[in-house]
Amino acid sequence: MAQKVFGVDFGTGSIKIYRKKDGIIMNEHNAVATVGKNEEKRPVAMGDKAFQMFEKAPDSIHVNFPMKNGAVADLDDMIDLWDFMTEKVSGTPKLKGSEFYIAVPADLTEVEKNAFKKVVTEGQGKPKAVKLIDKPICDALGLGIDLDNTQGELIVNMGADTTEITILAKGGIIVTKLLPYGGNFFDLQILNYVRKNYNFAIGRRTAENMKKVLVSATNNTNESTAFGRNVLTGLPGEITIKSEEIYPFISNVIKDIAVQTKSIFEHTPPEITRSIEENGIYLTGGSSWINGMDQYLANETLIKVNTTKHAQRTVISGLGFLVENPKKARDYALSLY
Ligand SMILES: Nc1ncnc2c1ncn2[C@@H]1O[C@H](COP(=O)(O)OP(=O)(O)OP(=O)(O)O)[C@@H](O)[C@H]1O
Ligand SMILES: [Mg+2]
Repeated sequence: MAQKVFGVDFGTGSIKIYRKKDGIIMNEHNAVATVGKNEEKRPVAMGDKAFQMFEKAPDSIHVNFPMKNGAVADLDDMIDLWDFMTEKVSGTPKLKGSEFYIAVPADLTEVEKNAFKKVVTEGQGKPKAVKLIDKPICDALGLGIDLDNTQGELIVNMGADTTEITILAKGGIIVTKLLPYGGNFFDLQILNYVRKNYNFAIGRRTAENMKKVLVSATNNTNESTAFGRNVLTGLPGEITIKSEEIYPFISNVIKDIAVQTKSIFEHTPPEITRSIEENGIYLTGGSSWINGMDQYLANETLIKVNTTKHAQRTVISGLGFLVENPKKARDYALSLY
């Protein structure tokens, strides 16, 4: 990996890596499987492989998700995962001479931002430089927005564990809010509902698949069937859930995203508001694909909503643009190292 320039989006659900001239070269789950405790603890699988083990592995294997709400929650696991990823993309964990651009939520504290630097510098590799770029800037560039010249844009990124709402104008962030929930919340609501109401255990991955059908911004009639285990009889079986059963448990979060979007918008100067109204709100992040979310947000804000089929890639694509254009990156990068 020597002498290379990389962009990294440490998403809570998945980590995406861009390499200069090569494009997006990795997109793996942000998960680490370990055995043992304290000093005995050691990783046995990383990334997608660790995620595959989730809820399938024996009790001795623990699958951890080292990020929470867009920030590093378990530094040791995150460093192990980082070493694994760098080795996987380059054949060696050595990073000598390499430069990193890392996308971070704009609304993190300095300590939280610094933790990303630690991940990249305290692993086995010793990169030449680490620079942080605010995620909403990357989103804007990845969405093809002319950031230097725009009078005003509003981006809502609904990810796995965060929802980031940002207003940008003339090359910078005007105001941003990081909400501590995203798609993971819906998965957990489904899992808990099925257990409480049907005495049925399903895995997180099953819940995530059911979500894509069941969770909807407005009440609808979809239904989804999955395999699981009856916790009373211990027997495997099938369960069918309707969208309307889940709706009462998820609607508050959906509504709150619209409320928070409206409130950020209400405190914006009129010339920015006008521009946002003209351009429309940009809805991105994997959870923007929740059924009817775009229409719901448009109805609530009375502004058209733009969606993208690259919703999980807008951050890493924008970061990629900066990796390829270092002069431009200088306008936005916070040098850490
Ligand atoms: N078709 C779909 N419908 C609903 N949700 C979806 C769909 N496809 C993916 N998702 C959800 O999108 C989320 C992942 O999106 P994304 O990759 O943008 O998150 P992330 O960047 O890893 O997390 P964060 O930005 O919160 O740190 C997951 O919760 C996933 O279940
Ligand atoms: Mg993200």
